[in-house]
Amino acid sequence: MSSSCTTSFELIDLHPAKADVVAAVRQGLQRRPRQLPAWLLYDQKGSELFDAITKQPEYSLTRTEQALLTSKGSAMANNLPAGCLLVEFGAGSAEKVSPLLDAMDDPAYLAIDISAEHLVKSGKRLQQRHPSTPMLGLCADYSQPLELPLPSQMLRRPRVGFFPGSSLGNFCPSEAITFLTRLRQLLGPEGMLLIGIDQPRDSALLEAAYDDAAGISAAFALNLLDRLQRDLGAKLNMDGFSYQARWDEAHSRIAMSLTAKGEQQLIVAGMESCFAPGEELITEYSYKFSPKAFLTLASRAGWQKRHRWSDNREHFSIHLLEPCDGEQTELYQSS
Ligand SMILES: C[S@@+](CC[C@H](N)C(=O)[O-])C[C@H]1O[C@@H](n2cnc3c(N)ncnc32)[C@H](O)[C@@H]1O
Repeated sequence: MSSSCTTSFELIDLHPAKADVVAAVRQGLQRRPRQLPAWLLYDQKGSELFDAITKQPEYSLTRTEQALLTSKGSAMANNLPAGCLLVEFGAGSAEKVSPLLDAMDDPAYLAIDISAEHLVKSGKRLQQRHPSTPMLGLCADYSQPLELPLPSQMLRRPRVGFFPGSSLGNFCPSEAITFLTRLRQLLGPEGMLLIGIDQPRDSALLEAAYDDAAGISAAFALNLLDRLQRDLGAKLNMDGFSYQARWDEAHSRIAMSLTAKGEQQLIVAGMESCFAPGEELITEYSYKFSPKAFLTLASRAGWQKRHRWSDNREHFSIHLLEPCDGEQTELYQSS
């Protein structure tokens, strides 16, 4: 679908205030190991670098998930209620949702992302492709409790969450359960969730996916330090850190970090942090889940499997979840 008209895309901007960004940085630098929240990776430059990562030959996740959404989009849509509001968490370039919107019956679409400028660009492009679908953008941090500021044309629609890209893996398992529990509440008693989950596989392949030969993943992580300088006036030696991605079998996760080359000092957010030689700043985790491990975790948040689609190598799954039997009443009576 395409349209040549100039398309508007409304954005509600609830980006964390600068004071909240400063607080998140302070808190992260006090942790051991030091770890900044993954959403800080995504300013406009970070979003552009992420899009470039998805085009690297080593990073098959996006291509695999996109192919599944294209080939199975109609089957997925057949399981969703007509006239529903599709709420995408971390929409990014909003490319993956297009085949779903094509296949769905009278959908409306809400795109949530922390990266406002990028979200507006993606939203305008998507609205041009789907001119008759009501759309809205919300810039917000989805890791915090959220309310959806919906216009009346979206308010009464049944809700379906869409969370592609295996971004659930940025949360540690206890945070993932909290997040999925909040989604149960946010999406309502009949809400469903379509979620893309990357699976554990060969560690060399995984490490290469997160540390591509062209150095885009490294630039993406280093942009975090650049951002601390640009947005918060941080003082540090940009050449004093090097990027690493390593598979941690015990936790079933890739740990992405910036490692201090020699002693390093970082002054930011009213704090001086001294890094010992070799000390790491974790920029992001990416937990990987087998289908069984994921469904066990989801069940602790009140979700059960309705359907699962996967590629024939079993590298990646898209799960359609619905509330666990008997959970609707329990969760909504206690709230
Ligand atoms: C790994 S990218 C995935 C993008 C896209 N969904 C895909 O599958 O290719 C994560 C996206 O989520 C956004 N994001 C990350 N953490 C977020 C948070 N806490 N709140 C809102 N958006 C977030 C980023 O800006 C980015 O667009």
